[in-house]
Amino acid sequence: MTGTPGYLEISSLTKRYKEGIAPAVGDVSLSVAEGEFLALLGPSGCGKTTTLRMIAGLIDPTSGTVRVAGKDITHAPVHKRSVGMVFQSYALFPHLDVKSNVAYGLQMRRVPKTEIATRVNEALKLVRLDHLADRRITALSGGQQQRVALARAIVINPQLFLMDEPLSNLDAKLRDAMRNEIRGIQQRMGITSVFVTHDQGEALTMADKIAVMSEGKLEQFGSPTEIYERPATRFVAEFVGQANLVENVRVIPDGGRAGMIELPGAGRLAVPRVSGEYRDGATAMIRPHQLEVRPAARPGDIPARIRSSVYFGDTVQYEVEAGANLLKVQMFADGAPALPVGSDAAIGTTTDCVHFIAA
Ligand SMILES: Nc1ncnc2c1ncn2[C@@H]1O[C@H](COP(=O)(O)OP(=O)(O)O)[C@@H](O)[C@H]1O
Ligand SMILES: [Mg+2]
Repeated sequence: MTGTPGYLEISSLTKRYKEGIAPAVGDVSLSVAEGEFLALLGPSGCGKTTTLRMIAGLIDPTSGTVRVAGKDITHAPVHKRSVGMVFQSYALFPHLDVKSNVAYGLQMRRVPKTEIATRVNEALKLVRLDHLADRRITALSGGQQQRVALARAIVINPQLFLMDEPLSNLDAKLRDAMRNEIRGIQQRMGITSVFVTHDQGEALTMADKIAVMSEGKLEQFGSPTEIYERPATRFVAEFVGQANLVENVRVIPDGGRAGMIELPGAGRLAVPRVSGEYRDGATAMIRPHQLEVRPAARPGDIPARIRSSVYFGDTVQYEVEAGANLLKVQMFADGAPALPVGSDAAIGTTTDCVHFIAA
């Protein structure tokens, strides 16, 4: 459930740490609705933390604006903003117990004692830690400490819930469980959230909107489906999921449909529709799961040779040569033996639409 559009609005946000070098964050603009979950996604050093800290008020922007609920807070000090923040390091007070850590923000805001007790208890229930309210922080597991940090951020009922790679210190199983937990709490509270991650899986599974960043710039802003299925740039196509990027592909129309796409040196592949920038010579993006290797060619397939195959239990990943192209193909493992390396095969598509990106 999401409400008012433009609840969090960032316009031309820029941070230059030093004159004369490219800004850490340059001209980033985006807008999310009330209750939405935004993921800032990109490789290390692309400017995610800097962006988040400008939203939090921990870094003063060089230029641009941050607005929340229509109010310009660009240069407002942290304590004048209504933000709850979770850091990668948790930053808890180790000498205090769980409930005192969670109560801290409410005490700072001079909330009456009885109300603090109630709200701390509610927040601890939300993260399922109410039974450990009197434990010392040092006697908690990593996952439990993570929950305390979450409770401490949300107990103040902030306008914005900001998280900087909060799951990166947890092991894989716990990370998956915490993903669902954070998303669940965020949705139940209907709290507008910004989540920094370099993990495309986290962004795709948790977020309503994803902002993909590279070298301080916003590459693309959109829903997970838009980002994954219709990437705007090469960078986004390769960073979010696996992609075959085939250059100089020609579209051969067939009536109102795309009909076929011609891969250089490999022949014509039947594809009912195309999306994106599909002029001739553009780059086709084909996800490995959108291709299939077949022992015998069907109409509209192209000839190929198996270069490698790797068995993952649930899937088999092939590398196949088609003309001058080396294509990744991912298929469900159906129990049949994988096609042998070096053998001739055919490739067909399992998708009805291939996406093109500007060269
Ligand atoms: N306090 C600082 N002073 C100078 N440069 C910084 C500072 N903090 C970050 N940077 C630089 O800004 C860029 C973006 O950093 P950051 O926002 O931390 O990226 P991310 O969170 O995506 O890894 C990097 O090149 C980093 O080295
Ligand atoms: Mg960072």
